[in-house]
Amino acid sequence: ISLKPYNTFGIDVKASKFANITSIEQLLKILEKDSNPFILSGGSNVLLTSDIDQLVLYLNLKGLNIFEESDTHVYIKAQAGENWHEFVQWCIANDFGGLENLSLIPGNVGTSPMQNIGAYGVEIKDTFHKLKAIEIATGKRRVFTNEECNFGYRNSVFKNELKGKYIITSVIFKLTKKNHQLNYSYGAIQSELEKNGIETPTIKDISEAVIKIRNSKLPNPKEIGNSGSFFKNPVISSVQFEKLKNQFPSIPSYVVSDSEIKVPAGWLIEQSGFKGKRFGDAGVHDKQALVLVNHGNATGIELKNLAQNIQQTVVDKFGITLEIEVNII
Ligand code: EPU
Repeated sequence: ISLKPYNTFGIDVKASKFANITSIEQLLKILEKDSNPFILSGGSNVLLTSDIDQLVLYLNLKGLNIFEESDTHVYIKAQAGENWHEFVQWCIANDFGGLENLSLIPGNVGTSPMQNIGAYGVEIKDTFHKLKAIEIATGKRRVFTNEECNFGYRNSVFKNELKGKYIITSVIFKLTKKNHQLNYSYGAIQSELEKNGIETPTIKDISEAVIKIRNSKLPNPKEIGNSGSFFKNPVISSVQFEKLKNQFPSIPSYVVSDSEIKVPAGWLIEQSGFKGKRFGDAGVHDKQALVLVNHGNATGIELKNLAQNIQQTVVDKFGITLEIEVNII
C-alpha cells in the first residue's frame, strides 16, 4: 500500500505489509509474531526515502478521558492515535488550560513526547504527567514519569537510549481547571491580542492567536506537504556567537545559559539564500525557511539532498552545523 496519505510530507513510498492498530490487544498479538515492525503515528515528523520492507503498524488507538480530578486540576488521558490539534481544541472547549500555545501542531498525541513538542514559549513537558508504553521486544507494559522521559529542547529518552524500543500507547496531561497559567510572553502573541483589543485573554484567545500566527507562516500539510521545522535551532557558545555578531550584526538570538546562545535556524537558512527556493518539487517554504516543503511529487531523497545542501551552505557561511529534527527513514 502507498504511505502517501500517512505522512505529512506526502511522500509516495510503499509498505509491503500494513496493519491498522485499534486496540492494545491487537498490538500485543502482532508484536508476539513480529518484533521488528515499523511504527507509524501521525507521520508528521518523518521523511520517507525508500519503500518499507517491514510490517508497518499504523497506531490508531483512540479515546480521551478524565483520569483523575481535583478542585484545581484535571488529569486527561489521551490515547496515542488522537490527533494532537483536535485534542488541544477539546481541552479548550472544556476550559482545561495548559496546551493552548500548542494549538495547530500537526501529528498525534502518542508522538508528542518523543520530541517534547513545543511552540510559543510552551513545551509538553510543562503539562506532561505520565505515559504508558509497550516494550517492543517483550510486549511488557511500562509507565514513564515526566522525569523518566528526560525531556529537553526537541528531545527525550525516546530519541536517545530508548530509541525504537517502545511504542507509546497513551499520555496523561495535568491541566488546570481554573487560575490558568497563561503564557503570552511571545511577541507575536502579544501583538495579536493587542490588535484584537484583548487585555485579559482566555485560553481560547491564546489558542486563536497561535492559530493565526501559525497559519501566517507555516504551510498547512493538507495543502502542501511538509514536516514543520526540518532542523533544530542550533545552540552555540557565547564566544562563537560574539564573533558571528561582529560579522553579522543583525543575527537574532536567545540566551540559553551563561555560556550558550540559541540562534534561529530559519534566519541562517534565509541568509544563505534558500528561502522560497525550489529544486524540482523539493523546496524551502517562502514564509519560514526552517520548513522544507514538497510541492507535489518530490521524493524523500530529493528533500534529503536539499537538506544536505542547506547544511553545507550554512556551515560554510556561519560555521554552524544544523541538526536535522525530522526522522529520516
Ligand atoms: N527567521 C528568519 N527567517 C525565516 C524564519 C525565521 O529570519 O525564514 C527569524 C525570525 O525573524 C525570528 C526568528 O527567526 O527572529 C525566530 O522565528 P520564529 O519565531 O518563526 O520561530 P523559529 O525559532 O523559527 C521555533 C520552532 C517552531 C515554533 C516556533 C514558535 C524550532 C526548531 N522551531 O521556530 O516549531 O512554532 O519557534 O515557538 O524550535 C515545528 O517544530 O514544526 C515548529 C514550527
